[in-house]
Amino acid sequence: MTVTTEERQDEESVPRRAMMRGRIGELTVNVAVRQTIVVPTFNERDNIPTLLRRLAAVLPADETEIVFVDDSTDDTPDVIRAEAQNCAIPVTVHHRTSPVGGLGGAVVEGMRLARGAWIVVMDADLQHPPEIVPQLVAAGVRDGADLVVGSRKSGGGTNEGLENGYRRLVSGGSTMTTKVVFRNALLRVSDPMSGLFAVRASSLDVAELRPLGYKILLELIIRNRPGRIVEIPYAFQPRHAGESKSTLREGLRFIKHLSLLRFGAQRGRMIGFGLIGLSGLIPNQLALWLLVSVLGVHYVPAAVLANMIAVTWNFALIDSLLYRNHRLGRTLTSRFLRFFLLGNADLVLRVPLLALLVDGVGAGVLSANLITLVISFAVRFLILDRVIYLVRPRTVAI
Ligand code: GDD
Ligand code: MN
Repeated sequence: MTVTTEERQDEESVPRRAMMRGRIGELTVNVAVRQTIVVPTFNERDNIPTLLRRLAAVLPADETEIVFVDDSTDDTPDVIRAEAQNCAIPVTVHHRTSPVGGLGGAVVEGMRLARGAWIVVMDADLQHPPEIVPQLVAAGVRDGADLVVGSRKSGGGTNEGLENGYRRLVSGGSTMTTKVVFRNALLRVSDPMSGLFAVRASSLDVAELRPLGYKILLELIIRNRPGRIVEIPYAFQPRHAGESKSTLREGLRFIKHLSLLRFGAQRGRMIGFGLIGLSGLIPNQLALWLLVSVLGVHYVPAAVLANMIAVTWNFALIDSLLYRNHRLGRTLTSRFLRFFLLGNADLVLRVPLLALLVDGVGAGVLSANLITLVISFAVRFLILDRVIYLVRPRTVAI
């Protein structure tokens, strides 16, 4: 049975989500079925028949709907429509002609179209066994959870379906990084990168989601903060047919997604902070040259003074450009003094190092100064990373 997306549009215009907000879940009159299975597809034609057959074997047709959100360039949507004729469960195909957000964007689109009290998200390639779907929903109902994650990493779950050691390494590394970055939100989630999960529709706030690529579950956990989360272990299977769409480009997209989720608006400021810091090299070196070569000042007090000038330069730019709209808390003097203190603290390291390079090794003052600035930058970064934020080295590589 097929239902076209067009027929659904009218129902969609009813502010259904707004009415469903709050934890009234399955009692809501607007919920048409118990569960909607949302399947993102990108050129998966050969997986469709088996997927539909196995889903129909374990799910009640009158309480279920299947929504495909398709970005294929092949005839997958036609195959879905044809196969839907033999499927007892109602099937919808929503083909996106100008897709946004990749896999995650497709899933969110599917969530908008879904009419189930529970929304189950799964891949089309049978790496997620369809037989587990009823268990996901049952666990959510039984435990009063908002989110049930199919986990490859909790008791009994396995990852053997990942093609090779390299994929496993990437998967393990990115999971670990993510868990470090979002320690608190992910305390109860062993597999935040899972593509298999069930979410209680009433706990969703689709408008809050900004999907970007593969990690839609992570996006959902961080931005929607579902209440109770439980996990069901499962064995990740080898791909049934076709090829994985996960590429290096997806990997880069994931890093961007992670930093957007973690820093949001702060991210722009962080880049600005780095660039302004870099620009401070110019007044620093220039002042040092003037003091030592033109005015004949000894290089140690000259380096200290040059540093102060650079810190003042950095402050002027940061205060007037970067934090223009955040200056209400303290007076200009108070902001400047604090910044100045922080900016000069590294002289404790730099001055002895400078003396060592100039007097000990016989390096030129300007190049020695530059070396100490680079070393100080690296040391400060490492302190920030390892001491202040406790990022362990092995989690850096993904
Ligand atoms: N609509 C749409 N648009 N679907 C897509 C797109 C896209 O741009 N990219 C991929 N898909 C679909 C695929 O057709 C498939 O059904 C599903 O999303 C997963 O794609 P795969 O290419 O098979 O991903 P994977 O096997 O490398 O990774 C999957 O499993 C991991 C472990 O659970 C994904 O679900 C990952 O998010 C997950 O971490
Ligand atoms: Mn796959």
